[in-house]
Amino acid sequence: MVGSAIVRVLKAEGQTHIVTRTHEALDLTDQAAVRRFFAEERPDQVYLAAANVGGIHANSTYPAEFIYQNLMIEANVIDAAFRNGVKKLLFLGSSCIYPKLAEQPMREDALLTGQLEPTNEPYAIAKIAGIKLCESYNRQYGESHGIDYRSVMPTNLYGPGDNYHPENSHVIPALIRRFHEAKMSHVPSVTIWGTGTPKREFLYVDDMARASVHVMNLAKTTYDQHTDPMCSHFNVGTGSDLTIKELVESIKTVIGYEGGIEFDPFKPDGSPRKLMDSKRLHSLGWVPTVGLEEGLARTYADFLNNP
Ligand SMILES: NC(=O)c1ccc[n+]([C@@H]2O[C@H](COP(=O)([O-])OP(=O)(O)OC[C@H]3O[C@@H](n4cnc5c(N)ncnc54)[C@H](OP(=O)(O)O)[C@@H]3O)[C@@H](O)[C@H]2O)c1
Repeated sequence: MVGSAIVRVLKAEGQTHIVTRTHEALDLTDQAAVRRFFAEERPDQVYLAAANVGGIHANSTYPAEFIYQNLMIEANVIDAAFRNGVKKLLFLGSSCIYPKLAEQPMREDALLTGQLEPTNEPYAIAKIAGIKLCESYNRQYGESHGIDYRSVMPTNLYGPGDNYHPENSHVIPALIRRFHEAKMSHVPSVTIWGTGTPKREFLYVDDMARASVHVMNLAKTTYDQHTDPMCSHFNVGTGSDLTIKELVESIKTVIGYEGGIEFDPFKPDGSPRKLMDSKRLHSLGWVPTVGLEEGLARTYADFLNNP
């Protein structure tokens, strides 16, 4: 989802030489294959958007795959990039790197200040390792080799290209599928897990892609002034959140489902609130442009084309 959106933004900016690979063509957990790819292509810049990604269900069911594959992807790509003269790289992490009980909204310096949320701890540890890989390569080789490897931590993303799998998907694509199917089969009501009161933040994927290119292109002096060698990442979010109930009602409206909504309070809610503090990036000229209703409508159109 994000990789394709970054390609759309780069093309719109006039970049003509963009190299991509599908998972099928290049398995990034295969170190030899990754080294061959970099030696052949020798790119100037790298956006590392590939990862093994999933919601609570997938994270709880496949913890070994989440930690192993994500560690391997990052270690292979960042090291091979360095060995093949890549000067600039952007690593995409996630808001789940922050402690479960981090003060809200979560600032960049909340990293490594407490226990992680247990359900996605293996994924989060791998993402933290990705930030630390970038920082460590910068600290050891930044001056001698002129490398500048940066990290961004997106909030919850959604948009065209999302995974609409009924079990292994994130909340918005999962709800789009459920409400669409309920509408088509005239089911009288849809039941949602939990109370609907937790608050979450969502960002449309094209805004995330613009943020990625924006951070990649920030002058090094600007990046250095606003980060620290051992706290070098930028949060990427809208700065505002909404309740799951509000989200569900918006999705219901966009889809045109006319039945009822029921909440099952006996199912887990997760954290009461997860909002990132993205002031650092907002102050440097990037702000989101696509509102929730518009983003949901575009995503539903994508779902209808790729159910
Ligand atoms: N989506 C979100 O809400 C969200 C939130 C915060 C951060 N992020 C981060 O943003 C980045 C992009 O996420 P996304 O939502 O765009 O996920 P996505 O749509 O699942 O894209 C990830 C891509 O990586 C590929 N991939 C996985 N394992 C691979 C491997 N071993 N070798 C090569 N390619 C591999 C996947 O291919 P297959 O599909 O074929 O496996 C897929 O094309 C990730 O780093 C993710 O952690 C996403």
